[in-house]
Amino acid sequence: MTPKTPEQSKTIMTDLVLPSETNPLNNLFGGELLARMDRAASIAARRHSRRIVVTASVNHVAFNRSVPLGSVVTVEAKVSRAFKTSMEVFLDVWIEDRESGIRDKANEAIYTFVAVDETGRPIQVPEIEPETKLEKERYAAALRRKQLSLVLAGKMKPNDATELKALFE
Ligand SMILES: CC(C)(COP(=O)(O)OP(=O)(O)OC[C@H]1O[C@@H](n2cnc3c(N)ncnc32)[C@H](O)[C@@H]1OP(=O)(O)O)[C@@H](O)C(=O)NCCC(=O)NCCS
Repeated sequence: MTPKTPEQSKTIMTDLVLPSETNPLNNLFGGELLARMDRAASIAARRHSRRIVVTASVNHVAFNRSVPLGSVVTVEAKVSRAFKTSMEVFLDVWIEDRESGIRDKANEAIYTFVAVDETGRPIQVPEIEPETKLEKERYAAALRRKQLSLVLAGKMKPNDATELKALFE
């Protein structure tokens, strides 16, 4: 399979925050943002693999800033690393200032998707070749995040998480 770049999976979704999507403080409801990120990430994983993809785990979500009613929210998703059948997707969330048009980083998240065949069995995906400095940093750290996610899910023994353990040595 020909390797791909993160840019080839880039997915940008821009949408408004409507009253039905807010909490009592008139800020975007966390679950609504998770759903938007899941949709963008799934499109990015599909663009990378050209397969059916399913969410395997949500590894990290940071709600650093609340997102007020009426905001224009942009979710940007890119595959940061492809393993055998799984892909890590990195999401950056931006809010656009109405008057200046300047975008401020609001949140970020990391999702893992698995490519599957028609029967739901995991299937191989193309490798990825990061190009920019940020893409290379995210690629390098993705293996440790995968190991942490697998350890927390009880699917890997902590002793086998070699690269993750090296962080603490
Ligand atoms: C995701 C799913 C396909 C994994 O199936 P599985 O039987 O665990 O398959 P495997 O053990 O072969 O794992 C497949 C890949 O997923 C990765 N994976 C599985 N669980 C993971 C987790 N919690 N975190 C990170 N990666 C994970 C494995 O490391 C493996 O990656 P690799 O092939 O790139 O090395 C399966 O659990 C599933 O279908 N889950 C439901 C998905 C779904 O419906 N999502 C929507 C939720 S509403």
